[in-house]
Amino acid sequence: MSKQTDLDAIRDTIIADKVTPELAASATQLVFGTGNPDADVVFVGEAPGKNEDLQGKPFVGASGKFLDEMLAAVDLNRDDIYITNIVKYRPPDNRDPLPQEKKTFLPYLQAQLEVIAPKVLVTLGRHSSNCFLPDLQISKDHGQPKRIKLAFRADKTRVLEVVILPLYHPAAALYNGGMRQTLMDDFSQIPEIIKQITNS
Ligand code: URA
Repeated sequence: MSKQTDLDAIRDTIIADKVTPELAASATQLVFGTGNPDADVVFVGEAPGKNEDLQGKPFVGASGKFLDEMLAAVDLNRDDIYITNIVKYRPPDNRDPLPQEKKTFLPYLQAQLEVIAPKVLVTLGRHSSNCFLPDLQISKDHGQPKRIKLAFRADKTRVLEVVILPLYHPAAALYNGGMRQTLMDDFSQIPEIIKQITNS
């Protein structure tokens, strides 16, 4: 089976499991993830916004445009990466995802990562960063790559070593000059991280 087939099966399971039925009822559709299932780099955002909800794809609004600019600056595009969110339905009125919603979606995100098996995990904002690094403080720890082990099954038989790069969320940095520059500076490390990890 191809990785895409496995990913499609995880998407279908989210629907079959009736995950977060209230969010599912208020959202237009599930926003599962897009990009290259063979990518070395996976980006994880928070939750779909209005545009993502309408189009069924992550990061297609203003913060997605900013993300595309940062990707282009490091010679990457959407076909080189895979991109998803922790929470896969739009929270009403763009509110923050609730702790329970993040917890409920985490096993599906882990399943996606297990299929893709990236070498680098770029977390966008504190919500997705804290899923993997619960003690992280985004204002202090952004831009500092860290080697972590992701254990997938309850019996921890499958472990994936990745470098995680926690970044500010593009939406938070979009209209804040200082944070925007910090995010672009942090982002510019990505090629070097890929080079190091693929040569190690
Ligand atoms: N913000 C996110 O965290 N994810 C999206 O898909 C869009 C905006």
